[in-house]
Amino acid sequence: MDELEKVLQITAKGAPAERALAAFRHQLETWRVALPPTQPLVLDFGLGNLDAVGLIECWIANELEAGYCGKYLFILDGQTCPTHWHQKKHETFHVVKGRARVIVDGVAREMREGDVLPVPPGQHHSFTGLGPALLLELSTPCVLDDNYFENTTIPIGGNYERRFEIRGLDRSDAPRLLAFYNSLSEEVHHVYRPFQPLSELVLRTHLEEAADRKHLSFGLVDAHGGIWGHSFLLWVNGPKPVFGIGLHQDVHGRGWGRKMMQLILDEADAAKLPLVTLTVGKKNVRAQALYQKMGFEIKGEATLWKPNDEFYMERKH
Ligand SMILES: CC(C)(COP(=O)(O)OP(=O)(O)OC[C@H]1O[C@@H](n2cnc3c(N)ncnc32)[C@H](O)[C@@H]1OP(=O)(O)O)[C@@H](O)C(=O)NCCC(=O)NCCS
Repeated sequence: MDELEKVLQITAKGAPAERALAAFRHQLETWRVALPPTQPLVLDFGLGNLDAVGLIECWIANELEAGYCGKYLFILDGQTCPTHWHQKKHETFHVVKGRARVIVDGVAREMREGDVLPVPPGQHHSFTGLGPALLLELSTPCVLDDNYFENTTIPIGGNYERRFEIRGLDRSDAPRLLAFYNSLSEEVHHVYRPFQPLSELVLRTHLEEAADRKHLSFGLVDAHGGIWGHSFLLWVNGPKPVFGIGLHQDVHGRGWGRKMMQLILDEADAAKLPLVTLTVGKKNVRAQALYQKMGFEIKGEATLWKPNDEFYMERKH
C-alpha cells in the first residue's frame, strides 16, 4: 500500500467532512486558485472534532524513490493542524493565501502570504488558521509512520508504543516474516541472520515447527500486520535451547527488545527449562547489555565470521 492509500484510509467521513470540503471549494473559488485535480484529503486525526483540529491536504506528488513531496494544506479559520514532528521529513512551508499562527518548538509567530518557513526533522510544529489559509508544503517524502503527534491519543503515525503488539507467529505470517528479514539494514543483517539460506519455505518450516511447540516464535507486529521484530527460542525440548532476537533498525531503543525477550524467558521459566543459551558478537555491546540485564552470563566463545568473534552465553533457571 502506498502512502497516499494509507492516508485515504484515515480520512474523515460524513457530514463534518462534507462541510469542510464545501468550505474549501468555496474559498478556492473566492481566491481564484486552481489546485491539482487530486482528491482532497480531509483529516481530523481521528479526534472527530474537525472544526477545531484538522486540515485538508491536496497532494501534488510524493515520490519516495526520487526523494521529494509537494502538497497544499488548507486550514479553516481557527482550525489547527496539531503539534507533531518528524524523525526524517524535512519541510519548507510557503503561505500562498491567508494567514496562519505557527508554533515551532514552543515559539509562536504569524505567517502571512509569501512567508516561507523551513522545518527540519525533530522540530515540533503546529498551524492554526487566522482566517482560512492555504500553504504549500515542499519536503522530502511523506511517510505516514514518520508523524509523531504530541497528543498521543491521535491513533495514527509513529505513536508506536500504542500501535505495536507482540504476538505468537503462525505459518500464515511467513511472507511478512520474509519481508521483515529483507527490510533489515546491512548493519542489523551483519549481526543478525539466523535463518540461512533465507526463504519463505525456511521461515514457514520454522513457524510450523513452532506451532508443534518445537520452538517459540514471537513477532512485533504493527496495526497493518507488518512485522518489525522477531524473537524465538529454538529446540525448546532439547538440552540447550537457543534464544535469538532482532528488531528493525527504525524501532531500536524503545524498550521493545526487552519486552520481547522477557516474554520468551517468562515462557521458558513457566515450562521450567533449566537452561537457555545464545551467542552474540563481541562487538555487539547493545545486545550484550540487554542479555546481561536479563540474567545471561558469558560462558565461552563461538565463531560466526572470524574465529571466536562471538560470546557464548547461558541463563540458568
Ligand atoms: C539488540 C536489540 C534486540 C535490543 O532491542 P532494543 O529494543 O533496541 O532494546 P531496548 O530498548 O529494549 O533496550 C534494552 C537494553 O538494551 C541496551 N541498549 C539499548 N539501546 C542501546 C544502545 N544504543 N547502546 C547500548 N545499549 C543499548 C540497554 O541495556 C537497554 O536497557 P535499558 O533500557 O535499561 O538502558 C535490538 O537493538 C536489535 O535488534 N539489534 C540488532 C540485531 C541484534 O543485534 N540482535 C542480537 C544479535 S545476538
